[in-house]
Amino acid sequence: QQGPAFDVNAMTLTRWVLAQQRTAPSATGDLTQLLNSIQTAVKAIQSAVRKAGIAKLHGISGEMNVQGEEVKKLDVLSNDLFINMLKSSFTTCLLVSEENPQVIQVETERRGKYIVCFDPLDGSSNIDCLVSVGSIFAIYKKQSEGEPSVSDALKPGRELVAAGYALYGSATMMVLSLGRGKGVNGFMYDPSIGEFILTDPNMRIPEKGKIYSINEGYAAEWEAGLARYVEEKKRPASGKAYGARYVGSMVADVHRTIKYGGIFMYPATKSAPNGKLRLLYECNPMSFIVTEAGGVASTGKEPVLDVIPTSIHQRVPCVLGSKQDVEELLKCLN
Ligand code: AHM
Ligand code: MG
Repeated sequence: QQGPAFDVNAMTLTRWVLAQQRTAPSATGDLTQLLNSIQTAVKAIQSAVRKAGIAKLHGISGEMNVQGEEVKKLDVLSNDLFINMLKSSFTTCLLVSEENPQVIQVETERRGKYIVCFDPLDGSSNIDCLVSVGSIFAIYKKQSEGEPSVSDALKPGRELVAAGYALYGSATMMVLSLGRGKGVNGFMYDPSIGEFILTDPNMRIPEKGKIYSINEGYAAEWEAGLARYVEEKKRPASGKAYGARYVGSMVADVHRTIKYGGIFMYPATKSAPNGKLRLLYECNPMSFIVTEAGGVASTGKEPVLDVIPTSIHQRVPCVLGSKQDVEELLKCLN
């Protein structure tokens, strides 16, 4: 009976975004609405990822699939959710999804000023074995006049208005930055009230970590400098060796890197000279968040956020994490 058992004044994500927008004199409320629509998509995706309703689908008595309908694949469902929620927010004009080969034009009557690039469910190889997956999004404001076109989406990460991700891990969390210099805030999902609650205000990545994260299966294809760097992490001339962690879901690996420090790498290899990760909806938003949290994100040659995109699904090598760790690696690369 003692003490506050129930927070009657919780800072929800919606409330927080509203408060932020109130401080911007020219704000129309559109970004708030846009972020709300993403929040709805994320809630629905996390429910599906956690298999809520599976008993209904599979039949509680053991008969398969009562309705006899085919269960939608999670990545397809997530993409449909993102697209439908974003379009119906009346705040977007152009969408770029990892799942769609072409840009998606929003119908004229539902258009707004924002462009959203997203990966609705990242970590596809982890979906079926129930390892953490995530959603990633990057938001731009349309700068040109006239009909929205591909060129409106081909902007460097520096120009992002907001970026964020949702991690469907042992808990669900949304991490968000509302622009350059605005920092990073984390919101944990509380299923008992169906809201994201501000649990990680002003997230800062440690200056240096003790973990390296890379798919070492491709070591034979690395450039010499990278191989030397990783070798040094394992057998340091002095001090303790780094630990190795690699989930294989970018959101999970980057979130851990922000929380604990260290370095995440998806480098160029001989057979994949641009790496694997996509610039518009993987590397840019994650690099934006990491940079806003005080870390560094690089292609190995330049800051990820400086790359001028030439096509919507283009890939770039990506190394990001604690400032000191990434800078040490960059010194090793040619
Ligand atoms: P996906 O978009 O098909 O899910 O691929 C992206 C994922 C990232 O989340 C992760 O960092 C990377 O692929 C892992 O790739 P690999 O299996 O080559 O290490
Ligand atoms: Mg992906």
